[in-house]
Amino acid sequence: MTAARTSIHGYWSSRFVFVLAAAGSAVGLGNVWKFPYMAGDSGGGAFVLLYLVCIALLGLPVMMSEVLLGRRGRSSPINTMRALADEENRSTAWSLLGVMGMLAGFMILSFYSVIAGWTLAYVVEAASGSFTGISAQGVGEIFNRLVSDPLTLVFWHTLFITLTMMVILRGVRHGLETAVRFLMPGLVVLIVIMVVYALIEGDFSGGLRFLFTPDFSKITPDVALKAMGHAFFTLSLGMGAIMMYGSYLPADASIASTSIQVALADTLIAILAGLAIFPIVFANGLEAAQGPGLIFTTLPLAFGHMPGGNLFGLLFFVLLVFAAWTSAISLIEPAVAWMVETFSMTRARSSLICGLVAWIVGLGTVLSFNRWPRIELLEGTAFEGKSFFDLMDYLTSNIMLPLGGILICLFAGWIMSESSRRDELGIQHPAAYGLWRFLARYVAPLGVVLIFLHVLGLV
Ligand code: TRP
Repeated sequence: MTAARTSIHGYWSSRFVFVLAAAGSAVGLGNVWKFPYMAGDSGGGAFVLLYLVCIALLGLPVMMSEVLLGRRGRSSPINTMRALADEENRSTAWSLLGVMGMLAGFMILSFYSVIAGWTLAYVVEAASGSFTGISAQGVGEIFNRLVSDPLTLVFWHTLFITLTMMVILRGVRHGLETAVRFLMPGLVVLIVIMVVYALIEGDFSGGLRFLFTPDFSKITPDVALKAMGHAFFTLSLGMGAIMMYGSYLPADASIASTSIQVALADTLIAILAGLAIFPIVFANGLEAAQGPGLIFTTLPLAFGHMPGGNLFGLLFFVLLVFAAWTSAISLIEPAVAWMVETFSMTRARSSLICGLVAWIVGLGTVLSFNRWPRIELLEGTAFEGKSFFDLMDYLTSNIMLPLGGILICLFAGWIMSESSRRDELGIQHPAAYGLWRFLARYVAPLGVVLIFLHVLGLV
């Protein structure tokens, strides 16, 4: 066994802070914005069921494997994979896993920041009282006015990237940690308030039925792919974000229990968001399958009609901004850390460069909602009709993250020596360790491959 490595970027001050940070990364727009609209687009229950199965059978083992690799490598995913492959006398081409992850991080952050920008814009709408007594039509108008104006979108996108890079710049202890400590609990409280409102004023049973009654005829390969991709997206898996956070984890913390806590918190918040939104959708005769605008055209209706709605609306969007913020930093931290390690660059310079790249790519998403709704180049391909935003989202969630997940599991389950993984994972119970190993070796990689083959029409 080699001597334990050390992280040059610092450590979380405790196990609890790691859980907060990992949960901060996992809980974000994926839960509150993406999960509801995907469930709405894919017919509800069938999607939700597949998503839950994917969280348990693929998400958890991948998350544990990612933390395991990260803590053992103690550096950015590219360098971690190189060091670990070297240690096992395997090809250092494994570092390409980190390269793909870094690329995915830029691609996701580029559109994530634009959507987070919508959230920022809604903070201002809420603060100026635009939601008071509003009609469904009025909410639609506010949303359309926002997304049809590229310059406004660029403004908010720029602000959000700047906020993200400001935290990154300050490093692990001061930057990332302070951001998550107080904000997550606040978000949970606000979402619970929304669920209570939906329970009183919305069509709650309609919402429940939509989310939890699976129509098995709706389970198609495409829905399975989306559910799997979303399981990776919502848990921040497959690109090295959790690996990076794992590299800052104190050596004595249990990887299994922290991972389970993060996955549970994330799933709970997504379900609560669904329970807050769909009752409002059905009570107002709105469309569930309306795509990325869903929460922006339903929640303001609730705020507009509940007592204290302006204040709650303001709080809600502020907290959503924070949730997105603590996720966005995890998307870019691996790239920033890699540049610091590799080129001995200062954190400030590395942050500036990475932020700029993500900002530029994000302009493609800004235009996707107005001037450039479909990429002409894709005509005649399998991606026909997709916008730049659709393409970034599809390539990352449905291809790159699951592929990264397979490789992570294969490395942790097969390549690493038994003593290294057992030692690092530190699961005392033999059956529990065996279960993880079985999931990481067989279930997760084969599950992903099976869904890929299904989509390609090969099985
Ligand atoms: N999980 C976050 C969300 O649900 C987004 C996110 C942060 C992410 N880091 C990631 C997604 C890494 C994939 C990979 O909003």
